Amino acid sequence: MSTVQVEKWDSVPLAPADPIYKLTYAYKDDTYPQKVNLGVGAYRDDNSKPWVLPVVKKATDILLNDPALDHEYLPITGLPDFTNAAARLILGPDSPALLEGRVSSVQTISGTGANHLGGLFLSRFYRWDEGTPRVAYLSDPTWVNHFQIFRGVGIPPETYPYYDPATIGLAFDKYLAFLKSAPPRSVFVIHACAHNPTGVDPTREQWLQIAEVVLERGHYVFFDSAYQGFASGDLDADAWAVREFVKRGVPLLICQSFAKNAGLYGERVGALHIVSPSSEAAVRVKSQLAILTRSEISSPPAYGARVMALIMNNAELFEEWKRDIKTMAERIITMRKELRRLLTEELKTPGNWDHIVKQIGMFSFTGITTEQSLALTEKAHVYLTTNGRISMAGLNSHNVRYFAECLDKVVRGQL
Ligand code: LMR
Repeated sequence: MSTVQVEKWDSVPLAPADPIYKLTYAYKDDTYPQKVNLGVGAYRDDNSKPWVLPVVKKATDILLNDPALDHEYLPITGLPDFTNAAARLILGPDSPALLEGRVSSVQTISGTGANHLGGLFLSRFYRWDEGTPRVAYLSDPTWVNHFQIFRGVGIPPETYPYYDPATIGLAFDKYLAFLKSAPPRSVFVIHACAHNPTGVDPTREQWLQIAEVVLERGHYVFFDSAYQGFASGDLDADAWAVREFVKRGVPLLICQSFAKNAGLYGERVGALHIVSPSSEAAVRVKSQLAILTRSEISSPPAYGARVMALIMNNAELFEEWKRDIKTMAERIITMRKELRRLLTEELKTPGNWDHIVKQIGMFSFTGITTEQSLALTEKAHVYLTTNGRISMAGLNSHNVRYFAECLDKVVRGQL
């Protein structure tokens, strides 16, 4: 008999379920007819159904009817027609960085993959100054996954002030003061638009002040752009901050996702763009991104990138996509107005609910407490994260009243 012990994984602790995905699972298992899913940030139409963008359907048909389509591997850094168009989309076709060949763009497993690859690249190659902590500063609060992504690549996350619960708005002075006092060349993860989870973005004037301090201190900006087009319905307006920072020479990279603005959630379509000071550096950076990609996913998945390449490189399809984006953004904006109207005018819910219409993008930070959020889920079958974030896309003309009434009750302590 062998005395060798088989591994029993005794030292493996049971991990908690993902705070966002677990809501989707629980919602699916709930048989209550009026249940509402305001958890995960995924667009739904007015009947609570996932929406396949008509332009995506069109592009898919073109692909399916293409006799030359095969299933060969894409290049390691992705489909060039996709990555080039994706870079133009976020940076603008007349971006100085693009025209000067200073951008290294690679295809990623959506925005999460871009965050991971960008973090991994910094972890290997970013040179923190002596005395500058090797950390990634994340906004407080941020998308929960940022924490484990940065931990996973060996850059411990810390937070910077962002949200002010007193105003349910931006803690701008504190944010700026933090940027000023952070050691030089610190790494800041910044949401490019439609901040997740708060829906609170800086104004253009505030963005310019942020850029100025970032430049002064030599900080590195790790932009996460998951909602281009979703905030305002306009792809260019939502890329404004990124383009402005590039124009001013802020050292930065951009993580880009097509999950939300093209409804390609499960196809995992995204890109990482690293802007370098010279085209020569950009070549070296891209060569390293290729090595990292090869070791992790070999080469990225083809379907979603092909769909987006078709859409972004064809003038007619591109215009149609912009219309589809507007449809989604406008439905969300209508729901914001309706929710605020119901709370303020009809139900006379205590408190000020103007933030619901001031915030932008997929989410609204309601300002309710963890206990109130939990009560909504447990007693009213309304699924939302415990920080009081609601996915506006989960509201529609059929359920917004029910939700408003539940929110009203929970705020009054009557649920
Ligand atoms: C969210 O925050 O709900 C979305 O970004 C989806 C996700 O991956 O968490």
